[in-house]
Amino acid sequence: MSKAISNHDKAHFLYNKDGHQCIQFSDLVVGEGIQSNQFLIIDNQRAALIDPGGDLTYTPLNIEISKRVKANQLDYIFASHQDPDIIASLPRWMMHTQCQVVTSKLWSRFLPHLASQFVTQQLNHNLDERIIAMPDRGGAIAFGRSDIIVLPAHFLHSVGNFHFYDPVSKILFSGDMGASLIEDHAEQPVADFEAHIPHMLGFHQRYMASNKACRLWANMVRQMDVEMMVPQHGSPFVGREMVSNFLDWISNLACGIDLMNQQHFDAGRAGYKNELTTHLAAPCPT
Ligand SMILES: [Fe+2]
Ligand SMILES: [Fe+2]
Repeated sequence: MSKAISNHDKAHFLYNKDGHQCIQFSDLVVGEGIQSNQFLIIDNQRAALIDPGGDLTYTPLNIEISKRVKANQLDYIFASHQDPDIIASLPRWMMHTQCQVVTSKLWSRFLPHLASQFVTQQLNHNLDERIIAMPDRGGAIAFGRSDIIVLPAHFLHSVGNFHFYDPVSKILFSGDMGASLIEDHAEQPVADFEAHIPHMLGFHQRYMASNKACRLWANMVRQMDVEMMVPQHGSPFVGREMVSNFLDWISNLACGIDLMNQQHFDAGRAGYKNELTTHLAAPCPT
């Protein structure tokens, strides 16, 4: 893994060659928010952000970006899904840059709810003209001298979910897939896969929708040329062997609806009382 380039170790190069840079920010979230990574891709003086986060990260991320490019060089925000830690800062980026937002068509009509009337009145264009609503199959978005490939990752975890592949660096930006709950040094690559599993297990069991979705996604990624997989929380998987370790693990993981039974839908356990529900109240595994 590369060295940090700023005085405060905020930025970590994942790739830096021939005017193409991929930079990870791992410690911009302070306070109560879950540790999150934000990503900046620069190619030939054009810039794109991946999963920039919410209000917590807007100001520090803006400071970091402005060290490298001007606001009018930011072409895109790629949003893997609709969560607050992914895209709640949308109105501020919309107001202060001319960027377009690339996200699932399932969320394109919901994202305007993040923007107040004050914000929408400040914009030169309608908000929806600046949202690129991707169809479920994904697609290629022209960026700099190349493309960013938008890959389907539906139900992993959001119903309309995409991952982003940079063919220049061969990095797969995998959103919440591969996320690990690590507080410090999330920029450090996974060194021991088996030891890393406990940091990922509970999150994937609860958030990922089903083994079927995981398996189909892993089959897709196995067909691709992926040097590095970087999730939105926790440590990157660097090198083909480590990426392959993750694909094998997630392909065999029971998760989401695979683990659900009637006890998870028990009104009596939730506190509702009548003669029909009291007999259902039984210990539940989670
Ligand atoms: Fe999420
Ligand atoms: Fe997340």
